[in-house]
Amino acid sequence: MIRDSLKLLLRMALGRYNKIVYQNAEFLRNGVYKVNKTGTIVYLEDRYDISNILASNMFDIKYNKVNLGITERILKKFFIPLQTDNKRIQGELVLLTSSKQEYKIFDYTNNYVLTVFSDYESFKNRKESMIYYKRFFPMPTIYNFNDKKRYIIEELVKFKKIENTRNNFKKILYYYFSYFQYCKENNQVEYIKISNLKPDRRYRFIEKLYESFSRDEVNCEVPFVRMHGDLWKSNVLLDENLDLKIIDWERSAVFPVFYDMFTFILNEVTLNKNQELLDEFLNGSYDDVLDEYYKIFNLQYDKENKKFYFKVFIMMMYRDRWTDCFEKCEKTIKDFMECNRLL
Ligand SMILES: Nc1ncnc2c1ncn2[C@@H]1O[C@H](COP(=O)(O)OP(=O)(O)O)[C@@H](O)[C@H]1O
Ligand SMILES: [Mg+2]
Repeated sequence: MIRDSLKLLLRMALGRYNKIVYQNAEFLRNGVYKVNKTGTIVYLEDRYDISNILASNMFDIKYNKVNLGITERILKKFFIPLQTDNKRIQGELVLLTSSKQEYKIFDYTNNYVLTVFSDYESFKNRKESMIYYKRFFPMPTIYNFNDKKRYIIEELVKFKKIENTRNNFKKILYYYFSYFQYCKENNQVEYIKISNLKPDRRYRFIEKLYESFSRDEVNCEVPFVRMHGDLWKSNVLLDENLDLKIIDWERSAVFPVFYDMFTFILNEVTLNKNQELLDEFLNGSYDDVLDEYYKIFNLQYDKENKKFYFKVFIMMMYRDRWTDCFEKCEKTIKDFMECNRLL
């Protein structure tokens, strides 16, 4: 009795990790759990190997050190006392993200990933997005959407490191052909004039990008459709059969048709220090692909003016995700654009 009350008190004092582990005991294997230094991964003590596998394709674990609170620092270990038999999900690792209202539980024994949402709205959006895209893009098999408990169960991909980035990138670009075709045939396209994309006046750099457009360019129309919105290497998993699975569709929104392609290229340069895709783009290796994309929308892609498309992309990136934090990445973007003569 006293032990139980003590346990309860302890549980209350332990903070976010412990709370999440206790709340999800029904999905976790019994045992002692630890939390990694950055506070993003809680894992079963003897599955340290797993947390490393996961970390290998994740940017934030390697770079962003989160300062843990004092209680978390002291109590890096805790015990799950609940004994539930016949669990369908035997999770061994929980992945937490600070910004989002969700977390993931990984079951490496039965190969399940459970994504749990704390609010219904994000669950609903994610569900809708996954159902929409799975017709066009390869993604992990979805086993279950639980509307009541707001979770999604999908296949756990035993992914390996992508060595040949170029080939796999090309493969991804091909999936967009039939998707764009669908958008066109179902009137899911918006043709937007650059003059309608005029950015706010907060940052001189972004303003200058817009001002650098010629009169013709300002009148140019760009096809916008719903896109992934966060396509980069960490969101592409290479499975055991060397097939690709695209994950993380939650930033999906209406963007120019080259947005995903350029997001991937930009992140390769700035986050993965890999210049090869950008060089290929600038050398014209993707002219054919872009030309095909544009043709689907009955427009002409101007391969002589690659800078124009990239500048539009940067303006859209600013509008979607850098609006309130541009001072943090301004220098990186400016240097990137200058170094690669994209201005
Ligand atoms: N179905 C899956 N199979 C294997 N690993 C996965 C799966 N879904 C996600 N992951 C792992 O979890 C990480 C984070 O998942 P993700 O959906 O991209 O969320 P975030 O928005 O935090 O990036 C991925 O980079 C990958 O390492
Ligand atoms: Mg991701």
